[in-house]
Amino acid sequence: MQNSLALLDTEIILKYLGVESNYFSLNIFDSIESTNTFLIDFFKSNKVSNKSSLIHVAVAEVQTKGRGRNGRSWVSGFGESLTFSINWHFKEQPSFQLSSLSLVVGIALIRVFKSFSIEHIYLKWPNDVLFNHHKLAGVLIELRSGMEKRCNAVIGIGINFNLSNTTRTNIVTETTDLFQITGKLFDRNLVLSVLLIELRKVISDFEKFGFCFFKSEWLSYHAYEGKRVCLKTPKNQIMGIVNGVDDDGALFLLTDSGREIFNVGDVSLREEN
Ligand code: BTN
Repeated sequence: MQNSLALLDTEIILKYLGVESNYFSLNIFDSIESTNTFLIDFFKSNKVSNKSSLIHVAVAEVQTKGRGRNGRSWVSGFGESLTFSINWHFKEQPSFQLSSLSLVVGIALIRVFKSFSIEHIYLKWPNDVLFNHHKLAGVLIELRSGMEKRCNAVIGIGINFNLSNTTRTNIVTETTDLFQITGKLFDRNLVLSVLLIELRKVISDFEKFGFCFFKSEWLSYHAYEGKRVCLKTPKNQIMGIVNGVDDDGALFLLTDSGREIFNVGDVSLREEN
């Protein structure tokens, strides 16, 4: 725990990572457009061999063009959040849906929050992290299939630590942060290290076993299970009651037409049941 803001620091993160540091290559930026964009461009420019097994990490004190899901922006001020991206090379195109990777990343986030005794955090399908219906963190995954059967995923994560009033007024969604939830200032270097270790573990398991390995754990964190919601898809809006997810992480809704399954969309709560 801290009394004031500690800046992101490579040496400290490597120390916290311990032997796990061998798996990661860290890039810390004071300011950058977007850590996701940085990693995507990095791999496009072939600066790194596709065969490299290192996990590249880009982390920034502030992003000037942070991106969210569905073309939205991700807003945060200097040092107020943990904003970072990692890449993952899937050795071959898995037989299961890579879209469920985002649900698995949500599990890593919840496990790490719990390890810091931050409780009552839930996941809104597919991967928003909520406390009391307010957004604490978000995940943006961008996939790039290359030659052969390999696929490179850039996994971007934003966690609100201590947002200023100015930042809050620039965010349209109902938002919260770790300071508001706990009254504590968490060390971003430590949280990042613990999260990198957990992400490496869960994504390795995901690569071997697929989403079904995590399904029951994911459902235990599912914010709107059994609730009446509206799902906005690129084509229309569907009302229904949330009724679990399938083995590929797609969402089931009980609608007027029966039990329907959806791969994309934004869920919002309609009313209390
Ligand atoms: C969302 O909830 O809409 C996803 C938000 C993802 C934000 C993170 S912050 C680090 C990484 N870089 C970006 O530009 N976006 C992701």
